[in-house]
Amino acid sequence: MIFTIFGNPVEHSKSPLMHNYYFKKTNLKHCYARYLLENGNEIIDKFKELKISGANVTVPHKEWAFKLADEVRGVAKDMGAVNTLILEEGKVVGYNTDGPGFMEVIREFDYKKPLIIGAGGTARAISYLLKADIVNRSEKRLEFFREKGFNVYTWDNFEFKNYDLIINTTSAGLKDENLPMPKEMLEKVFKNAKYAVDVVYGKKTPFIKLAQKYNLKTRDGLYLLVYQGILAMELFLGEKIDKKEAEKIYFDILKD
Ligand SMILES: NC(=O)c1ccc[n+]([C@@H]2O[C@H](COP(=O)([O-])OP(=O)(O)OC[C@H]3O[C@@H](n4cnc5c(N)ncnc54)[C@H](OP(=O)(O)O)[C@@H]3O)[C@@H](O)[C@H]2O)c1
Repeated sequence: MIFTIFGNPVEHSKSPLMHNYYFKKTNLKHCYARYLLENGNEIIDKFKELKISGANVTVPHKEWAFKLADEVRGVAKDMGAVNTLILEEGKVVGYNTDGPGFMEVIREFDYKKPLIIGAGGTARAISYLLKADIVNRSEKRLEFFREKGFNVYTWDNFEFKNYDLIINTTSAGLKDENLPMPKEMLEKVFKNAKYAVDVVYGKKTPFIKLAQKYNLKTRDGLYLLVYQGILAMELFLGEKIDKKEAEKIYFDILKD
């Protein structure tokens, strides 16, 4: 079977590397490619034209995949975003493994009051399964969460509560050395917290560095990359896989 990732840009994606390595290590004769898709509204036509069996979808096409898939299943229906497409009996079916993958990342954490920083697509995916307060740099994207009954804040009206799990879902720190919120505010939050999770991967972000200064237990974006990938692999293969073995394989190829 052939799989791909659709995105724009897509050259930085680690998905081909990690999924092909999984196929190799488990002796499966499948192949995973990457596809630079400029127009998100062509995603399903392209999927069918390429005659592939499944695909991942990354920025900025997750909403197009949700809108255009022949059918959407599971939590993706409520999230309004699809990150995995599977060919099932001639239909292209959409799923979302970001939210469930994130819950795997924090499964060993003993937390009571989570705070999500950022209000974009990743925050939507995570907040659907994790009832958290949301703080964002600006107001506009908060409306979606407010309508759904979340406590939402901008930096200006943020209220400090006893947050113990702090999640950065912004891209701050990816291509710069920015923190996702002003340093003094973040330090005040970290003082009472136990855990910090970043979705950015590929470098030690200022967010993770600061969290470690406050002795928080941290997880960088590699964990989400791995767990959303394992759940996608189960959908690609149409069966449960040995998650412990898969974790080992994915971390092994991604760790450097
Ligand atoms: N590890 C993984 O497997 C994984 C999975 C999914 C996503 N990600 C990563 O998650 C990040 C976010 O993706 P997304 O799709 O959610 O993006 P998005 O929908 O564009 O949302 C971006 C969010 O980040 C905020 N933001 C951006 N730059 C900021 C800065 N310098 N300071 C403070 N806030 C800032 C934006 O605030 P405004 O509303 O004020 O603009 C917005 O809330 C990306 O880096 C992506 O690669 C990783």
